[in-house]
Amino acid sequence: MNRREFGSVLAGGLVSSSFARHRWLPARGQPPRVNGDRLNAHLTAISRFGANPQGGVTRLAYSDADKLGRDFVLGLMREARLEPSIDLAGNIVARRSGSDASLRPLLFGSHIDSVPEGGNYDGNVGSLAAIEVARTLAEQGITTRHPIQVVVWQNEEGGLYGSRAVSGQLTGNELTNVSRSGKTIADGIVFLGGDPTRIAEARRRKGEIAGYLELHIEQGGTLEREKLDIGIVEGIVGIKQWEVTVSGFANHAGTTPMDQRHDALLAAAKFVEAVNRIVRSVPGRQVGTVGRIQAYPGAPNVIPGQVVCTLELRDLDDAKIVTLYGRIETEARRIGEENGTSFAFKSLHENVSAPSDPRVRTLIAEASRELGLTTKVMPSGAGHDAQAMAQLGPMGMIFIPSIGGISHSPRELSRPADITNGANVLLATLLRMDEARFT
Ligand code: HGY
Ligand code: MN
Ligand code: MN
Repeated sequence: MNRREFGSVLAGGLVSSSFARHRWLPARGQPPRVNGDRLNAHLTAISRFGANPQGGVTRLAYSDADKLGRDFVLGLMREARLEPSIDLAGNIVARRSGSDASLRPLLFGSHIDSVPEGGNYDGNVGSLAAIEVARTLAEQGITTRHPIQVVVWQNEEGGLYGSRAVSGQLTGNELTNVSRSGKTIADGIVFLGGDPTRIAEARRRKGEIAGYLELHIEQGGTLEREKLDIGIVEGIVGIKQWEVTVSGFANHAGTTPMDQRHDALLAAAKFVEAVNRIVRSVPGRQVGTVGRIQAYPGAPNVIPGQVVCTLELRDLDDAKIVTLYGRIETEARRIGEENGTSFAFKSLHENVSAPSDPRVRTLIAEASRELGLTTKVMPSGAGHDAQAMAQLGPMGMIFIPSIGGISHSPRELSRPADITNGANVLLATLLRMDEARFT
């Protein structure tokens, strides 16, 4: 059934047999829908916290803009008649009771922190849509069987810090990592209202949640190119990041002959090329990036004595990441020997890859079909908090189109109609998970 036919079915007051079996169906017979105009207005409103001159958003985790954005979110949650609180890891968790106290909670949400010079859709769409879904339930008097929890995870962009604390994947020594805000992770958690000394208590065990669902922008161009409404995520890539320090010898740029230099930046340049070459040398969808680089002391007339850069590798297969890293490390050692420098690698963090739950995928497909929306099953090349939650229970992710496949950029854009569609699929899938009893 296409969208128009579906609309006329609704207009005629008819309801599909699949919806009819749900207990939450209101008497009038129409499945509940979010208020799309309100959701899109909230999305515009949150963009002022960390608005950047390029027209996007820079809301680094643990920055003042992050705090202001979170306060805005807390207000929306209260308007949605949720009961929000900050957990010990600094995540915002907003609760709503279900009718069956013996059931474990269904979690859904996303993040509101951004990369530097990012956009207004990555994370915000899923976070605000989750609140809108909860508000719709409240307004329409729908009580789910499971308790529900809307979660806004802290510091997703830095490496899923909030969600990995909850999944038990965050290691203690990561708390001293310095985030893009300049604060350590530990100080950032304090800043947001958590307590890093008690972070272990934020952890939940496998099976403690009935399921996790996240709506997100695709961040690639597949859905738009293929004119599809909804992506059903089959799995999320594993991501490993390292800090790489290249040590050479700083010396006078005018008096040191070209054959007597230990130029750390020259070695780093060869390293950047090697990463690209090695990652491309095997078939597959794996990607590798050097995304940040700094030369010291950083003057036009000094040969760089030290370079600090990052290395990031991603693939759905964690073993492939390990193999590629081994080859890159070997090549770095060779580059170092060639020009009298040395390379040291320090692991920053790891998000292990995660398949979504096939049963949740089926429910997303069903929900989309009922809404008259077209779908495609696809992998996620971006990392998401959902991959940490997959450690705890069945996980599903819903994608909507990103215009031009642009993300992590002020030019990131998703259409209001697609955002509303995504929120309605989130709502309809959540209700199906509530009904399904597969956990
Ligand atoms: O970096 C990522 O993949 C995500 O956007 N956090
Ligand atoms: Mn995101
Ligand atoms: Mn992102």
